[in-house]
Amino acid sequence: MQRVFSGIQPSGDLHLGNLLGALVKWVDMQDDHDAIYCVVDLHALTLRHDPEELRRNTIELAQLLIAVGIDPERAILFVQSHVPQHPQLAWLMECTVSYGELSRMTAFKDKSNRDGTKFISAGLFTYPALQAADILLYDTDFVPVGDDQRQHVEITRDIAERFNSRYGDTFVVPEHVIPPAGARVMDLQHPDRKMSKSEEGAGTVNVLEDFKAVEKKFKRAVTDSDMEVRYDIEAKPGVSNLLSILAGATGGDPVALADNYEQYGPLKADTATAVIELLRPIQERFAELQADPAETERLLKVGADKAEAIAAEVLARAKTNVGLLQG
Ligand code: TYM
Repeated sequence: MQRVFSGIQPSGDLHLGNLLGALVKWVDMQDDHDAIYCVVDLHALTLRHDPEELRRNTIELAQLLIAVGIDPERAILFVQSHVPQHPQLAWLMECTVSYGELSRMTAFKDKSNRDGTKFISAGLFTYPALQAADILLYDTDFVPVGDDQRQHVEITRDIAERFNSRYGDTFVVPEHVIPPAGARVMDLQHPDRKMSKSEEGAGTVNVLEDFKAVEKKFKRAVTDSDMEVRYDIEAKPGVSNLLSILAGATGGDPVALADNYEQYGPLKADTATAVIELLRPIQERFAELQADPAETERLLKVGADKAEAIAAEVLARAKTNVGLLQG
């Protein structure tokens, strides 16, 4: 069976962009792939954080992933820092990627230019090397991600190809899987910016959000003044975003869905309803899981043991090929 790997950071609240851009596919792909999913807590250390919040976010995110539909019996679900091979392979990756390549990463440029960012950690810069390690440690064929991670998967491929050509066939070269609708969910108030964990407020819809608030946010979503429902990201970013969200939530096609609407009001109302129906079972299941964190911790431990068995073999292969003596 072909293998799928993906990861998500336990920083901030899970939002609609994460759900439609990545998690819907994670759930889908676990049925006919050997699926491995990871809460990437080491990545969350690259920006200033509160330790207590990180602990809470990590367990909650694991519970949310299960609530969304990741089945820890079928997929391997684990926390990155529980598998020491990730930072170990990351060093080999850092020595295989160049300063110039890392400098071109748009995620680094965005995060290091963010207002108020005074301290830019070295980890934020070398982050893609750790992400490459995450992916390559599992002989991954496919990486389901949102559009903003495209560049990180590309650099992972470049690193894998370079390592293979320098040291002999070692890593599987992975491909990204980006969903047809919802790959880039935009902020409802600023449809020129992607919805993100760092932008709390009226433009972000969180997975655990109260339904009344969800309705209100869609009602107030920014559109435009020409009153035509048409999918055109350049000319009509707000309306196109609503159509993409509706398509992502219902499995439809944003261009075709536009034909069903003549006014913005009904489009906003239907999108809100579709999102609420998507969130309802997730919120119910999350509430059950939240009552028993010890069970989640047990499942994560089982996941980490399974992940480590695979990662240890691949790391040993990489160490041997690069010329390190086995200890
Ligand atoms: P993260 O934690 O920022 O986001 C998790 C997933 O959600 C997707 N996503 C979006 N999709 C559509 N619209 C949006 N507005 C939106 N915002 C986020 C992301 O594309 C991602 O798929 N570097 C990664 C985590 C990572 C990883 C990995 C991913 C670490 N190692 C290995 C894949 C494989 C990140 O920060 O994602």
